[in-house]
Amino acid sequence: MKSNSQGKSRFKTVFVCQQCGKESPKWLGRCPDCQAWNSFVETKVSSFPVSSRPYPNGTKAEELSRVQKGNLPRFNVGFAEVNRVLGGGLVPGSLVLVGGEPGIGKSTLLLQISAMMARSNRIVAYISGEESISQVKLRSERLGIGGKGIYFLPEADLAAVLEYLRGLSPGLAIIDSIQTMYLEDVAGMPGSISQVRECTWRLERWAKQNNVPLLITGHVTKEGAIAGPGTLEHIVDVVLYFEGEQFSNYRVLRSAKNRFGSTNEVGIFQMSDRGLIEVDNPSQVFLSAYRDETSGSVVVPTLEGNRPLLVEIQALTTSNSFTPPRRVANGVDFSRLLLIIAVLIKRAGLKLFNQDIIVNVTGGLRINEPAVDLGIALAIASSFRDAKPISGLVAVGEVGLNGELRGVSQVERRIAEAIRLGFKSCLMPRLKSRSSFDFTDIRLLQIGSVSEAVRLGLTREGKKESARAETTEQE
Ligand code: TYD
Ligand code: MG
Repeated sequence: MKSNSQGKSRFKTVFVCQQCGKESPKWLGRCPDCQAWNSFVETKVSSFPVSSRPYPNGTKAEELSRVQKGNLPRFNVGFAEVNRVLGGGLVPGSLVLVGGEPGIGKSTLLLQISAMMARSNRIVAYISGEESISQVKLRSERLGIGGKGIYFLPEADLAAVLEYLRGLSPGLAIIDSIQTMYLEDVAGMPGSISQVRECTWRLERWAKQNNVPLLITGHVTKEGAIAGPGTLEHIVDVVLYFEGEQFSNYRVLRSAKNRFGSTNEVGIFQMSDRGLIEVDNPSQVFLSAYRDETSGSVVVPTLEGNRPLLVEIQALTTSNSFTPPRRVANGVDFSRLLLIIAVLIKRAGLKLFNQDIIVNVTGGLRINEPAVDLGIALAIASSFRDAKPISGLVAVGEVGLNGELRGVSQVERRIAEAIRLGFKSCLMPRLKSRSSFDFTDIRLLQIGSVSEAVRLGLTREGKKESARAETTEQE
């Protein structure tokens, strides 16, 4: 009972929601903020939160107009794709969180970045609470990394980590992962909201005080957030998500928050047997297996961040009169798919109610923008009618509930990319201003509705067959 004899306890007890981090003085069955059930856990927290202590170097306020606009220095991390996503390189003193599912390649990415930073004569501290030195050595050998200038510390006690960093004074530090780190003076298991939050705060302070960039990895929860939504994202400067579908080699690095740049940039990588390789010409890679002689397959010029990227949407419809029809969406939003099917049934007269429908984005990409709607609609219609799209076609446009087509952003860049890859026609919503477009290498098929798209975008030859198929079904 040593601590009690020192007067006021260093800890107070609160209940913390393990989903969103909400604190409450008493236990609650359901979190009023994120609505999670049974998520409150009794947690001892320090009565003197480190976060509320002022910076020791006494910061002064300055009138904004007098502040000189300095150029933020940036470190080149060796991957052009990562530099771009960071907004032009790694800012000294910044705390960058790299989130992703286990096994997606976070440690691989950070080890490769470490090697490239070490090559430019920076000392790198690589702290892992997950892997032993022999495991990391194995990985580095596989990646062809000698390891000169990279100091590896297998340690999860953050106080010891900070002590070590003080002694080493590296030019870059890596913490893999934040969920394995713990502080003795903070209650809760490693990975709990209180531990993760407090550890991140202390790392943030270390990075700022020493002006050293710090990259930390974080595992995402089932809901796709790092350690409960909103607990870490507001502490760190940059949040990057490393994503990819299972069984696909492609990885996308996306920024969800960036205090030093836009969140519109993405980096595209391929996981090889020798680590991550940047993909310079993603459209070409994602279309490498595309053949335009099959039905159910449509190419869409999407935007990944600010970058145009052609992807192939595949759909397969099969009749199913016995069970309720199934709909499967891989790489596109499921509710968006349901909306598009409803529009095709109601506004384009396609009898899809007894069809199982599977939609897939090839290459394991995830496309979130509504500009892909028309491509999905056309791929479904193409499979259902067994009529392939007209030769050399791309399709883009957002679909509304009335079957109308809506405009999409940056249509010029999308079309330019389609031309670059040799496509001949673009099915798209009507343009408001004609003058700005001067594309001679591609035929712009401007239409107003989904039913027009089905009429104009598909070849007719398949129709006879599908009519025959439909009649055999009815028999
Ligand atoms: P890893 O970086 O350990 O993932 P994370 O840190 O996000 O959990 O990557 C693990 C996966 O990557 C593993 O399944 C093997 C694969 N991998 C390769 O395909 N090639 C490689 O060169 C390396 C190092 C890993
Ligand atoms: Mg890892």
